[in-house]
Formats: sequence, C-alpha cells, structure tokens
Amino acid sequence: MTDRYLPPKKIPTSLWDSPQTLLRLPTQLTTAYATEIEARNLLDAAINNEPDTGPTGGISPQETELHFATRFSGSCGRTALAALDPKSELRDASDRIIGALSGGKVSMLDIPCGTGAGAAALLTTIATLREQDCIPCHPLEVRLLGGDNSPHALQIANSLWTRITPALRTQAITLHHELMKWDVKDEASTVDLLSKWLNKGHDSRLHFILAANFSGFLGTSSNLKNAQSQLNHIFQWAGTRAAQTIWIEPQTNIADSFLSELYANAIKRVRRLFTTSSENPLKPHAKSECTQQHPLTKPKRFNVRLSLMMLDHKERTP
Ligand SMILES: C[S@@+](CC[C@H](N)C(=O)[O-])C[C@H]1O[C@@H](n2cnc3c(N)ncnc32)[C@H](O)[C@@H]1O
Repeated sequence: MTDRYLPPKKIPTSLWDSPQTLLRLPTQLTTAYATEIEARNLLDAAINNEPDTGPTGGISPQETELHFATRFSGSCGRTALAALDPKSELRDASDRIIGALSGGKVSMLDIPCGTGAGAAALLTTIATLREQDCIPCHPLEVRLLGGDNSPHALQIANSLWTRITPALRTQAITLHHELMKWDVKDEASTVDLLSKWLNKGHDSRLHFILAANFSGFLGTSSNLKNAQSQLNHIFQWAGTRAAQTIWIEPQTNIADSFLSELYANAIKRVRRLFTTSSENPLKPHAKSECTQQHPLTKPKRFNVRLSLMMLDHKERTP
C-alpha cells in the first residue's frame, strides 16, 4: 500500500522504534496500567512472570488478576500493532482503524473486553498519534460498550477505562463507557448486549466491533458449537448497521482454524453487506509480529504475534 493515512515512517518513536522493530505502548496506557497494577498489589506478579503467559482469562477473581498482570500488555500490543501496522503486513487494517476513529460519533463494542486491553490500546494509540500531529485531531465521541462473562474483569476494565478518559479528552476524544456481563453461549444475554450497543449508537457515524483473544475459549469445538448461534446474531446485527469488525487473535494453530471457520460462517450470514480485504478466502486473516517493550520493566522485551481478520461494508473505502 502506498498512500496510507499513517505511513510507517510517520509513526512516532514513542510507539515504534523502527531499527529495533520494537513496539512501545502509549504512555497514557502504561501510566493507567501501572497505577491499576499497584492499586491491586500485582506488581510482583506483573514483573516476575513472563509476559503473555499464564491464564488466558477466567471467571474467578484470582485467574482474572493473574491474566491482568501477565497477559494484558500482550493483548494491548496486538491491538496497537494492528492500528499502526509499521511493517505494512496487515493490508488496509491501519487505514480502516484510523479512518473509523478519525472523528464524529462512533459506537464501539469490545467483546470479550476482559480487563479492557483492546479498546484502551486502540484509543490511547489514536490519542498519541493526535498528540504527535501524525493524524488530524477532529472531535471524536466514542460510546464504548464492553461485554465479558467475568464480573471481576469487568470491574478492572471499568477502572482502567475511567483512568484513561482524562488523557483522551486532551486529544478531543470523549469516551463514554459502559460494561455488561455477557455470556457468548447465552442467547438472552447476547440479545441484551446487542440491543444496548445498537441503542447507544442510534445516531453514530459508525458502528465498530473490536473482538480480541477469544480463541482460547472459542477454539474448542464444543464451546464454538454452543456460541455459534450468538456469534451469528452478532454478525447479522453488525451487518444491518454496516459495522466495521476487527477480530484479533494471537498466532496459534487453534486461532488460525477458528478464524477461518468464523469467517466462513460470517460471510454466509452477511453476504450482502460485508467483504473482507483478504485476497485468499481460505486464509482470511493477515499476520504480523514484532518485539514489544514491557510496560513496567522497560529493559524486558517479549514477542507479539497477531492474526487479524477484518469485515467491513462492501462499499466503504478506507
Ligand atoms: C483472553 S481473554 C481476552 C480479553 C480481551 N479481549 C483481551 O484481549 O485482553 C478472554 C476473555 O473471555 C472471557 N470469556 C470466557 N468465557 C466467556 C463467555 N462464555 N462469554 C463471554 N466472555 C467469556 C473471559 O472472561 C476473558 O475475559
């Protein structure tokens, strides 16, 4: 791609160190994360465990806290890497994400939001790009709804999103967030989630779905079978609003086959409204990887590898 909104050479070094292929999380995010980690007495767990290891989320408070301490920064890194795409490996993902969050009212659904990594990384990355004059700073109002099955994760996400709100405001981004308990296997809870998201966005310029790191749960065939009809509802309603969907997973065999299956199903449901930017329908996801700086212990680095699938309205050009 030639004329990107954010040409890789314009990415500030505070986010991407090109010679070292090193990703750094936005300062607004690392500050909020460090404060939240300290408030929860999780500093030892965050520093002494290898990043991006440990439980992939869970319902119990203990599993959720350990996930927050060990996996939160890797989840953020994957989302930030998708938005920046510094190695130009993700087709038009960066243009679609930056275009979606360029201004106006946007209704965003983050599922499963866990402790809030995805939306927090996306919005603070946009704020940093605005702060550094890499992209225009038009007023942007984000109505963000996060859904997850873990009440404890929802509490942490609520606190974290509240912490980043003032920093976003300095870059003309107004964040209104709400969280709700949601079970992907349960039809009534999915209908509640969708109706809340759609009502919040009745006058939005764009509906946006960010789905990330769900293959640990949905990658098993029994969970996927129980969740399938709810996922179909999500895609169908996303289709009626011409929503833009970004699905991000780590690079694993399970995530690869999960994304292929998900894509095949989504395209069947919303054939008229969506397309994908993949040239190969058998491989609907693009991949990228880099090294990431640990947000709490700067010398520490770890690998970030993502697979990404996008669904968008047929006629929208990024
Ligand atoms: C690996 S985490 C990903 C969270 C977040 N997207 C991120 O990138 O950090 C997986 C999340 O799925 C949630 N989860 C597990 N089973 C679920 C279900 N049946 N319905 C909704 N969420 C579920 C867990 O509570 C956990 O927060």
